[in-house]
Order: sequence, then structure tokens, then C-alpha cells
Amino acid sequence: MTAYEVIARKRRGKRLTRQEIQWFIRGYLDGDIADYQVAAWLMAVTLQGMDPDETWDLTEVMAFSGERLHFPYPTLDKHSTGGVADTTTLVVVPLVSSLGIPVVKLSGRGLGHTGGTIDKLEAIPGLETALSPQDIHRVLEASGMVIAGQSARLAPADGHLYALRDVTATVDSVPLIAASIMSKKLAAGASGVVLDVKTGSGAILPELTQARELARTLVAVGSRGGINTRALLTCMDQPLGRAVGNAVEVQAALEVLGGGGPRRLVEVCLSLAAELAAMGGAASRVDAYSLVSQKLASGAAREQFARWLRAQGGDERIVDEPDRLPRAAMERVLTADRPGFVTRIDARQVGMAAVRLGAGRRRKEDRIDPGAGIILEAEVGTPVSPGAVLARLRFNHGADVSGAVKLMDAGLDIGEAPPAVRGPVLEAVR
Ligand code: URA
Repeated sequence: MTAYEVIARKRRGKRLTRQEIQWFIRGYLDGDIADYQVAAWLMAVTLQGMDPDETWDLTEVMAFSGERLHFPYPTLDKHSTGGVADTTTLVVVPLVSSLGIPVVKLSGRGLGHTGGTIDKLEAIPGLETALSPQDIHRVLEASGMVIAGQSARLAPADGHLYALRDVTATVDSVPLIAASIMSKKLAAGASGVVLDVKTGSGAILPELTQARELARTLVAVGSRGGINTRALLTCMDQPLGRAVGNAVEVQAALEVLGGGGPRRLVEVCLSLAAELAAMGGAASRVDAYSLVSQKLASGAAREQFARWLRAQGGDERIVDEPDRLPRAAMERVLTADRPGFVTRIDARQVGMAAVRLGAGRRRKEDRIDPGAGIILEAEVGTPVSPGAVLARLRFNHGADVSGAVKLMDAGLDIGEAPPAVRGPVLEAVR
């Protein structure tokens, strides 16, 4: 077998055997197959696809490329395909764990225009996100939940393949996304997972039909791996919440945990939490949404968040005093120039604008500015008059403010009539 033959077979649309997939991924990790050959193979997979058996084989091979976590009891997890102003993890995990259901969430960093939970958490003074398997067990025992960065020891094949996909236009492939996500869930020992599959202009797969295919593939792969898997299709036409960045998104999560927050964000949090609550046996599917709503209103999830911060080394005072979180020194306000209704807030453009302010990375080695970001003062459908504040841009010296303003201008429209607004939760795939 040669790398050339494996690439050529996939390019011609042939089915790869498990042996071929295993040999190819192993060879890549061992340094016997070059990056450029793997890049060509990724493009062949993106163009030709993979059938369910190949997708499963790739997932399992990737999951077995590193260590696997094992827990003495079932643990649940959630994962999103990537969003903007999507701080759901910081609400859903403490909410579900406040029901007595252990949750182990391995999160990533921001990618392109989408935010990453680990970058957000690093805005919290003291919080440790690089946890060893021993630390993960300790934090879970102490607080009933863990949110940690995916380490190089868990599914390392995904880390390497993802970095290549990110720069070779091979991110938006259903089998590659499914194998990437589910290999991490298998490696993390999850017994159940709820997936938030985004659709709309700001999603990796913008078309609803593609997002639905991804959701079905994820559920099929999860079931084959013995993971109870459900997916919700949620709308990423506009940013989910009102805060885009890192410290600002932690603050937004605290608002939801305190019983406030924008309706769309709260609804997605409750819907994801309800899926996990039903999966974890805390309530029937019919009663789960009202159970998690009551729990959120009771303040139990907020207390749970503080308990977890303590266990993972974070400064729990931020829960009562969110002003302790970093905040950029400067602010630029964007206002409406005419009366009407906000008809479009493009999630992708807003996400890219936040990157220009320093809230995300333009190159892999860039440092995040934890206090930079965007606060939206309107959502699609909000009536506005001239001079009404649409957004506040927060930044420090060195930020590309004019680039951010241009992106915001291109991403925001005001029209005469209120637009139709979809979502935020479009459908469930089980
Ligand atoms: N999230 C992942 O973890 N992997 C992908 O391929 C896409 C989104």
C-alpha cells in the first residue's frame, strides 16, 4: 500500500477499507506520510464523500489514536459545530450537572469566525483549562462537572487533521466533521451527547439540507459507537446572543445563569439542557424542558457554576462581581443611520469583526485579547430610529477597528419592514 494509491482510490470515488484508513492515519501520525499527501486525501474525501462504514472506520481510528478516558459512572457531553455569541456551554453544563448528572465537556478554541469555549474560559482569572486525565477525575469528583481543553493526548489525529483542514478548504465535509466530533466523544468516554448543529449564514454548513445530513450522520456514528446521541438543528443566521468575544461571553452566560439574558440564547440553552436531562434520566422527554427551566430560575445552576470554578482553580468572585473580568479600555459605538427594522445581522461578519478587535485569532500564533469583543444592542427584527445604538465595539490599542467597523457595516442591514425570523431551534434529529 502507498499513500499515493490511497489518495488516488479516494479521488476516483472508491470505498476505502478500514485497513487503508488505519494505515493512512497511523502513517500520518508517525511522520511517514507527508502533510501535503494528507491534504490531498482530505480534499478527495471532501469531494467524493465517505459511506457510513468508512465514516465510522475513520471515527474509530481517530478515537484510538490517543488515550481514552473511562469513568466509573455514565457522563454526558455537549458539542456545537461552531457559532457566534454562542455561550451555551457555560450555561448548559452547570445546569445539567445541577440535576446530579455528571458532565465532562472537552472544548476547543475559536476557529475562523466562530468562538471557542476554552478562549472564553481563559478570560476567568485563575481557571485551569489544560487538565490531565487525573485532574479531570478530581474536578469531576469535587464539582460534578468539568470543562477542559482537549489535550494532545486525546484523539491527537483530530488535532493534526483539523489544523490541515482549516487551511485547505476541507472543513465543510460531512464525514470529516462527523469523524472529528465523534472521535473526541468516544475518546472522552461519553455515554451520551447532545449536538448543536448550526445552520444559516454563520454555520460551517449554511444550508439546512447539509446541516440535516450532518446531524443524521453524527447520530448514526454516535449510535454505532454506543453513545446515546441526539442533535438539534439551530439557527446561526444571526449571532445567538448579544455578546461576541471572551470575557463578554462569560458575562453573558452569568446573566443567563442569573435568570436573564436574550430569549434566543436562553431557548437554545434550555433545549440542549432538556435533551441531556432526559438522556440522564432526570425527567421524561415531555417534562425535561420545564424541569431545566425551573432549575435555571432557582439559581441552582449559578451555584453549580461557582462550585465548579472553585474546583478548577477559577476566581469564583466573578459570579457576583462580573466586573472582575477583563474589559478592553476603549469603546466605539455603531448607530442606526435611518429609521426602520434591523433586517440582517450576519453572524459570520460579526464574528470576523470580533476577530479584528482581538477577540479571536487571524493566525494560529495570535494572542487573544480577553477583554475585547462586541455587544449587540439589537437583534434581527428590532425597530430602530436614527442614532439608536446597534453595537458597542470594545478594544485595546493595536486592534483593527476600521476593519471591524467595515465588517459590521457590511453585516448589518436596516429595512422598512420587519423581517421573518427563524428559529432559534429548528428541529431535533434522534
Ligand atoms: N467541530 C469539530 O470539533 N470538528 C469539526 O470538524 C467541526 C466542528
